[in-house]
Amino acid sequence: MNNTNEYSIYGEYKDNLQTILDTIVGRITAFSDEEYDRSGIKLHEHLIARVKSEESMREKCQRRGLPETPHSALAELTDSIGVRIVCSFIDDVYENVRLIHSYDDIEVVQEKDYIKHAKPNGYRSYHMIIKVKTPFCDVLGRTPGEYFAEIQLRTIAMDSWASLEHKMKYKKNIANSDLIVCELKRCADELAACDVSMQTIRNLILQQE
Ligand code: GTP
Ligand code: MG
Repeated sequence: MNNTNEYSIYGEYKDNLQTILDTIVGRITAFSDEEYDRSGIKLHEHLIARVKSEESMREKCQRRGLPETPHSALAELTDSIGVRIVCSFIDDVYENVRLIHSYDDIEVVQEKDYIKHAKPNGYRSYHMIIKVKTPFCDVLGRTPGEYFAEIQLRTIAMDSWASLEHKMKYKKNIANSDLIVCELKRCADELAACDVSMQTIRNLILQQE
């Protein structure tokens, strides 16, 4: 074990996380590239992938009352590996969901459709927690091991809204916060209506090709 990993909350499993993340991203990207060559449709606009930082993972363990151990980070919490797939259109979100379900070595263990059922603040996205079969040993001592990952899927409009709302959430003692919360909710609903209209327009155009 090298020095970095010795003190990592991910312990000896740390290096596996980036490899697993790269594999997931590689597959999603390869499928999207094939689809683009076939139909000219870009299944996602862009994609963000990260291994949760040491600091955020330790903070989350504290918040959840868990000891700061590899077991907490990899077996109790499920978002050490995170992928956000940002799509131009709502149908593309669901096409990516279908793709993720289709892999034999991926088990979807939790899904939350905050697009069909928006949060009260207006937040919209599709969340999946997946369990990936890997060639590596996992924190429970199994080889081949299983690792959790969190996948968030949303449209560009939902993504820009979530970034702005996130900024507001982490600012303390913000002035006019009631007004901001109310305006954010209004914007979220307007953006959602636009997403539906954009999808309808795209369908009308595609029908005529
Ligand atoms: P944590 O929020 O990470 O503790 O997980 P959870 O069990 O509450 O799961 P949930 O599906 O509610 O949220 C997971 C992630 O989705 C968060 O870490 C955020 O990245 C994102 N998210 C969820 N709700 C909101 C929201 O209201 N606003 C924004 N900007 N992001 C959200
Ligand atoms: Mg939450």
